[in-house]
Amino acid sequence: MSVDDARVDELRRRKAQAVAGGGQARVSAQHSKGKLTARERLDLLLDEGSFMEVDPLVEHRCRDFDMDRNVIPGDGVVCGHGTIGGKTVYCFAQDFTVYGGSLGEMHGLKICKILDMALKTGSPVIGLNDSGGARIQEGVASLGSYAEIFFRNVRASGVIPQISVIMGPCAGGAVYSPAITDFVIMVDGTSHMFITGPEVIKTVTNEEVSFEDLGGSTTHATKSGVTHFTATDDEEALELTRELVSMLPSNNLQKAAILPTRDPIDRVCLPLQDLVPDNPKEPYDIVMAIEETVDDGAFLEVQSEFAMNIVVGFARLGGHTIGVVANQPNFLAGCLDIDASVKAARFVRFCDSFNIPLLTFVDVPGFLPGASQEWGGIIRHGAKLLYAYAEATVPKLTVITRKAYGGAYDVMSSKHIRGDYNVAWPSAQLAVMGAEGAVQIIHRRRIASSGNPEQERERLVGDYEDTFANPYRAASLGYLDDVIQPSETRIVMAKALGALLEKEEVRPARKHGNIPL
Ligand code: HXC
Repeated sequence: MSVDDARVDELRRRKAQAVAGGGQARVSAQHSKGKLTARERLDLLLDEGSFMEVDPLVEHRCRDFDMDRNVIPGDGVVCGHGTIGGKTVYCFAQDFTVYGGSLGEMHGLKICKILDMALKTGSPVIGLNDSGGARIQEGVASLGSYAEIFFRNVRASGVIPQISVIMGPCAGGAVYSPAITDFVIMVDGTSHMFITGPEVIKTVTNEEVSFEDLGGSTTHATKSGVTHFTATDDEEALELTRELVSMLPSNNLQKAAILPTRDPIDRVCLPLQDLVPDNPKEPYDIVMAIEETVDDGAFLEVQSEFAMNIVVGFARLGGHTIGVVANQPNFLAGCLDIDASVKAARFVRFCDSFNIPLLTFVDVPGFLPGASQEWGGIIRHGAKLLYAYAEATVPKLTVITRKAYGGAYDVMSSKHIRGDYNVAWPSAQLAVMGAEGAVQIIHRRRIASSGNPEQERERLVGDYEDTFANPYRAASLGYLDDVIQPSETRIVMAKALGALLEKEEVRPARKHGNIPL
């Protein structure tokens, strides 16, 4: 055997050791939990054969707790880059078979290198998280690497899309990297996120809560709003990640790729003609309006189980990616509350960061009344949505389908906070409030002193409705650019978007605004 062969053998041995990770027994344990390994996950995430690994030979340098006798090349995280639908992405996948995927100094620095390279090249970054958290043996060196990651997540925020897929435990301060990234995807049953686990909670507060109830995907999809998507297994989570990446531009200087569609841009949306019920109190599903309007009925809803009174998600119109925001009359009558405001505000800001035009459907009776909303800070949380829309300089299209009442009218991408093209359907009502409430306030004495109060009340409600329960007063003031038939929605919005694609709008120079957090 030549010397060169010996060297090649040495390289092969080291690489094989990196690929083997924590060994077959731990790989089998991972599979028996219904989880794939880090490398299997990357294979599914990326276009076939596109993965190029970086840092497979990095090792930890911990000498405490006998760690020097337990060194595995790669240090528990597989890093590199590849493509998704031909688009370059940077990625890392924590390997639970190596020290439980725990994050030590070098493991963390490998992730930092990926984040730096993604930022330098203007590419999305995807983290597959499956980790016992800070590597206990490495102490503060581990915490230092976490903070280096957090810093980079913040620096990259609004510059490159960042996606976190949670495919195992993610506990303690480790949750803050996913929390800062743009999207969190959790796998049902196998992923958990929490700051303090059930045992600590029991000790400190005496509350008893299971692992799943505390930090499983259902909790974060419905109660906390931490996760944006839930998948039934690893495969679905990775397919969802690919779909999401395909909708987004690579960075804040680009626009999302145009996807040609066979769906005619001048398609008449007949089902929308009678979507809105005559009775203003009757609910309907706004998702039907979204799906009917966009290309091929394809709508990727974000946070579909959280704050269901507002719907947000991605779609395409004439091939262009758009962000859709819509009040949902089917849930809490479409009122804006704390959670809905925060959900939509973050989505609007994401779209604005990445040059994704916004299409807003409005049917909002106002902000949700109640002491718990007031005490919870609906004033500052509702202001976030107002702030986000007013700050956004991407093309903003608005369709008012029915109610646009009170402050919520202003907030929901109104002309006054610089909606670019605002239309209403004939069923729209733009007013300070609904007819019954308004008449009760402004005509209370008149009704009381009338010979037939009920008849007088009905007459006054009718008068009010004639004046405000339609879009024409607003249209006459130029607050609406037009009133259109529901069936024309796709044609009109696509034309408006086409004319706005090159829109440029500047705001005064400043370090950054002070959104009411
Ligand atoms: C070092 C760890 C580890 C950790 C797990 N392992 N967590 N090694 N540091 N944090 C190792 C285990 O010793 C074990 O090694 C292997 O990973 C698999 O762990 P198991 O316990 O056998 O697996 P499982 O039963 O599936 O339980 C997984 C787990 C549990 C729930 C994650 O391991 C666990 O509770 N780990 C500790 C979690 C934790 O408290 N982390 C610190 C959180 S605070 P062997 O060799 O036996 O296979 C934190 C702060 C971050 O992270 C701060 C950032 C600012």
